[in-house]
Amino acid sequence: MTKRDYRKVSDFSTEEIHHLFQLALTIKREVKERRFVPRLADKNLAMIFEKPSLRTRCTFELAMRQAGGNGLYLGPSEVGLGKRESVYDIAKNLERWFDLVMIRTFAQKNVDDLAVHASIPVINALSDAEHPCQAMADFLTVLEKRGSFDGFKLAYVGDGNNICHSLITLTAQLGCEIRVATPDGYQPKEATLVEARTIAAKTGATILITTNPVEAVEGVDAVYTDVWASMGQEAEAAERRKYFLPFQVNAELMRAANPGAFVMHDLPAHRGEEITDEIIDSPQSIVFDQAENRLHAQKAILVYLDELR
Ligand code: CP
Ligand code: NVA
Repeated sequence: MTKRDYRKVSDFSTEEIHHLFQLALTIKREVKERRFVPRLADKNLAMIFEKPSLRTRCTFELAMRQAGGNGLYLGPSEVGLGKRESVYDIAKNLERWFDLVMIRTFAQKNVDDLAVHASIPVINALSDAEHPCQAMADFLTVLEKRGSFDGFKLAYVGDGNNICHSLITLTAQLGCEIRVATPDGYQPKEATLVEARTIAAKTGATILITTNPVEAVEGVDAVYTDVWASMGQEAEAAERRKYFLPFQVNAELMRAANPGAFVMHDLPAHRGEEITDEIIDSPQSIVFDQAENRLHAQKAILVYLDELR
């Protein structure tokens, strides 16, 4: 069998995504009940990081350890992707030692090139274009809380960034509804929308793109936001703040959502910017459940990709 990668959300079919959710829930039960199942016994994961991380590093490393394997952290100063060494040569080295590789990088091309050249599965642990593992953990959390995706309506308010792209595509695959509100000029990429609308035509999903946050949030079951300036955009932060201020997720905006609507964020949060303390700390907030589920969603992805080889 040929190896598979998880470079972007659409690399998995809808059927595979449902299978992964069930696998993740099984794995989560095993961990909670302290039942050790060595699903990745003696397997090794290379972890390439070109950007900082709390959740991604902890959860990939722990996922491997809890499954009987190992994760090895490779920071920016070790790898020097494309500078110290070409992506091709890195791929050809890593495949000799490791069973799987995850990469957090800037350009999606680095993820794609690594996947082309490495004979082992490559997992995108965040690029400028996508954060597919995050979206899987987010929807796993929604599934746990609601029991199903039937009629689920999600609003994403903020920057049309990597998180936004992965949420749009996964919503399309699951046949749900997403409404995205961004300032003009910060909309999600056209290519993502074209792909998601093609998927939506088959699954019955609905995708709305607007510049009006209230229109996006009206009557939804969950409101999701993310930082206004992503890693690598720090120099634009002050300029962006001017345009993004009306897109803050606060008590007033939440009033437009369904009563009890979930508050979602991938974290790290810039409290007082894209979200207020009052809202992120409210009983409706499920942000730490999302963070917890990174561990289980990713373990399911690792196990699945390893089994397919
Ligand atoms: N949400 C997320 O990926 O967090 P980190 O950047 O801390 O890994
Ligand atoms: N959009 C954010 C997500 C962080 C997990 C970033 O890329 O910095």
